[in-house]
Amino acid sequence: MSSLTLTRLILFFSIFAAITLKSNSQYLLPITKHEPTNQFYTTLNLGSGGTSSSNLLLDLETNLTLVNWNIFNPPLFVNNLVICKSSTCNSIPGNDCDDNGLFCVYRQSSLLGQNVGVIGAVVQATVNISTTDGGNLLSPFTVHPFTFSCAGEEPLQALPPPVSGVLSLSPVSSSFTKQVTLLFGYIPKFSLCLPSSGTGHLYIATVNYLIPPFNSDNPIRMTLTPLKNIYTGNYLIDVKSIYVDGTPLSFNPNLLAGGAKLSTVVPYTVLLTDIYNALAQSFTLKAKTMGISKVQAIAPFKDCFDARAAGKNMTGPNVPVIDIGVPGRGGEVKWSFHGANTVVNVTETVMCLAFLDGGQNPKDLLVIGTHQLQDHMLEIDFSTSLMGLSDSLLLHNTSCSTWPSQN
Ligand SMILES: *[C@@H]1O[C@H](CO)[C@@H](O)[C@H](O)[C@H]1NC(C)=O
Ligand SMILES: *[C@@H]1O[C@H](CO)[C@@H](O)[C@H](O)[C@H]1NC(C)=O
Ligand SMILES: *[C@@H]1O[C@H](CO)[C@@H](O)[C@H](O)[C@H]1NC(C)=O
Ligand SMILES: *[C@@H]1O[C@H](CO)[C@@H](O)[C@H](O)[C@H]1NC(C)=O
Ligand SMILES: *[C@@H]1O[C@H](CO)[C@@H](O)[C@H](O)[C@H]1NC(C)=O
Repeated sequence: MSSLTLTRLILFFSIFAAITLKSNSQYLLPITKHEPTNQFYTTLNLGSGGTSSSNLLLDLETNLTLVNWNIFNPPLFVNNLVICKSSTCNSIPGNDCDDNGLFCVYRQSSLLGQNVGVIGAVVQATVNISTTDGGNLLSPFTVHPFTFSCAGEEPLQALPPPVSGVLSLSPVSSSFTKQVTLLFGYIPKFSLCLPSSGTGHLYIATVNYLIPPFNSDNPIRMTLTPLKNIYTGNYLIDVKSIYVDGTPLSFNPNLLAGGAKLSTVVPYTVLLTDIYNALAQSFTLKAKTMGISKVQAIAPFKDCFDARAAGKNMTGPNVPVIDIGVPGRGGEVKWSFHGANTVVNVTETVMCLAFLDGGQNPKDLLVIGTHQLQDHMLEIDFSTSLMGLSDSLLLHNTSCSTWPSQN
């Protein structure tokens, strides 16, 4: 064999290897649940010369990743600063110039649903993301340049430790996930598997999730529904109806006209008073027929039950199933929630309906929170403008914190 053909062969094999690696690869970040506050954060290795790892709260509304960094510590250099009115600066909603008109500044008027603003310097550095082929962790995948904001101010300092910033997962092009998919030309989608405990994962551009028993031959099935009004910077879906053990709740359907918003910072789904009352009433009646009686409520919850009376199966306490009816391809489809996602243990003997009454006049009519989403796969695909939710992974004897065994 001539050395030329050998070179060709090696080249052929290395191209082949690169392609297989790419289709099997999973670009992912860990998601940790911070138990005392029910917040979910990821850990990013951000670097520029030195490296530093930061725990960043996952947020679907923030438009640019915010890190509570003093701009000089760890050191960033003048060439890390984004210039005012540059194309990078202009692509960020809420961009502005600093007082000298030289550098780019990011302003966000509301942070995590609170009426407090943040302002920070817009900077660029390198971030490493883990990759895996399902069994083994591969070398880190380097994203450069990654644009974010250093905001060493009050609202970020007030975040509960160990969190020191916010990861932007909003639909705009400056969000963390959009930056990665744009930079590498990947399919613009990301998925969240929020753990009920342990470590879950944020997936970027993943086609097949490798959470045993799932793989490319046995994919996780998603129930899809259109994303609406994405330009608002929120992830909104239409909700047609709500069911308790298959029986639809009766309330004025106009109440749901504004749709439901998804949140990774609201721990328990918040409902308009009329809808909350209809849900609680129906849940209480059905629970009673299952021999589960009501007990004194424990705040912030309004409807609590005797935890000892409920049987248990793989999806948590055996309580009435709650379904949310959303528009699907051929009509209404259901997102189903079982005990692990519908009730929460407050004491050894008391479990409560894990939904909150948002009052008569809430800013958002229905906000779907993290207790309901955990141990389900949630997929947001901008290429199809669809959001998908799997059924509970617990039904498949697995969870968001299951990880393929290392081989
Ligand atoms: C990212 O990974 C590369 C390659 O392993 C390494 O050289 C670099 O220091 C890492 N950077 C950060 C910020 O962790
Ligand atoms: C994010 O950007 C969108 C689109 O410009 C805007 O509507 C939304 O208010 C911004 N979100 C925040 C939290 O500022
Ligand atoms: C577990 O309980 C749920 C009700 O929460 C029920 O729908 C489901 O069929 C039960 N599963 C098994 C395997 O018993
Ligand atoms: C909730 O409490 C019940 C009854 O004490 C117990 O069987 C169950 O394991 C608890 N669940 C969790 C998630 O702690
Ligand atoms: C669930 O998985 C555990 C180990 O991961 C296994 O011991 C158990 O038999 C499985 N149960 C079912 C119903 O598949």
